[in-house]
Amino acid sequence: MTETTSPALAFVGAGSLGQAFAALIARSGQAVTLLATPGTATHLLEAREIRLRGVVDVTVPVAPAPAAPGSVGITATPALLPAGVGMIFLTKGHQLAGAMGMVRAAWPVAGDAAAWVAGLQNGIAKDDLLADAFGAGRVVGGATILGAERGTDGGVTVTSLGATYLGEMVGGGSPRVDRAIAALQRAGIPAESPADIRSVLWSKACNAAGVFGVSVLARAPASQLFVDPGLMRAYLALVRETAAVGAAYGVEVGNYANFPPIRTYATQPEAEILAAIPPRIGPAPRGGSMPSMTQDLLAGRPMEVDQVFGDLVARAARVGVAVPHLTFVRDVLLGLDRITRETQDG
Ligand SMILES: NC(=O)c1ccc[n+]([C@@H]2O[C@H](COP(=O)([O-])OP(=O)(O)OC[C@H]3O[C@@H](n4cnc5c(N)ncnc54)[C@H](OP(=O)(O)O)[C@@H]3O)[C@@H](O)[C@H]2O)c1
Repeated sequence: MTETTSPALAFVGAGSLGQAFAALIARSGQAVTLLATPGTATHLLEAREIRLRGVVDVTVPVAPAPAAPGSVGITATPALLPAGVGMIFLTKGHQLAGAMGMVRAAWPVAGDAAAWVAGLQNGIAKDDLLADAFGAGRVVGGATILGAERGTDGGVTVTSLGATYLGEMVGGGSPRVDRAIAALQRAGIPAESPADIRSVLWSKACNAAGVFGVSVLARAPASQLFVDPGLMRAYLALVRETAAVGAAYGVEVGNYANFPPIRTYATQPEAEILAAIPPRIGPAPRGGSMPSMTQDLLAGRPMEVDQVFGDLVARAARVGVAVPHLTFVRDVLLGLDRITRETQDG
């Protein structure tokens, strides 16, 4: 196999992100494998293609894995996952343990020293889970702001290519990270290796806590959070508590491209941030896309409450940081999640 056909990445979970990443990589002529649940694997193989709409317009063929470069290789069998690649888990947070266990039983095979894993789920918990399952040395830190949604027809709309960050958990990059970044960039996916991936992970966790917490409770699209003083104050409270937990673990948050300036929001006086909100002329803007956790609530799907809020509250308790806003949101969202489940169970 030549360098150009040797796969750099494979993905677990053929949902919004899994289909988007795999299809974009295949479109660029690279080999890629996508591990799906049996039902979704059958559906995609019968459809014979993945279509992405939105900010991209892409249709790529799919074929049973291992597929030729240019097609997405689909499988529901972890033993067919390729050796020597970075395996990026793109299940929901609450599906990660099950997916990891299934993959770990068959992959990586003995002697595959180059294989590594990453997860792009929201929250901090996923890297600890991956380290427990695969060993800390195999875990690369990862976060993405690529936005994608699966429609009721199964089609995926990419709302933003955002930015994808990968880096070694001990800081800096490495040849394996560089190879993955090159594969993503070749696919047209903005990707970079920051000096400190843990700072990116905690900064993204701050934003996720703020956006999800406020949007789910207010049923408001993200676009309204940053222009309404009340919602912004609530967002800042969640961001600041999360940043305080990160600081207690030795991580400083930063300002990164494609998501709000978290370092500024964590450190600038609240009055100055609120004063910078432009005065509203006319009624509040309507429309705008809902954050994924709000979409999950409205669609009656489980929310990633434990993975995002429960984990932060538990981490805060371990280092003695008071997080009353995060705790309040965790408790209300756990209740909402339970009510949704009970309503569906009849
Ligand atoms: N979507 C975004 O814009 C975005 C952006 C940043 C971060 N994230 C985070 O990324 C994660 C994935 O998000 P998503 O929107 O792509 O979720 P999603 O559309 O629900 O996709 C999850 C996929 O994982 C599959 N899956 C579950 N268990 C599996 C297993 N054991 N083996 C193989 N596949 C399995 C699901 O199977 P089925 O096909 O059977 O349902 C589904 O296809 C979430 O944690 C989310 O918070 C998402």
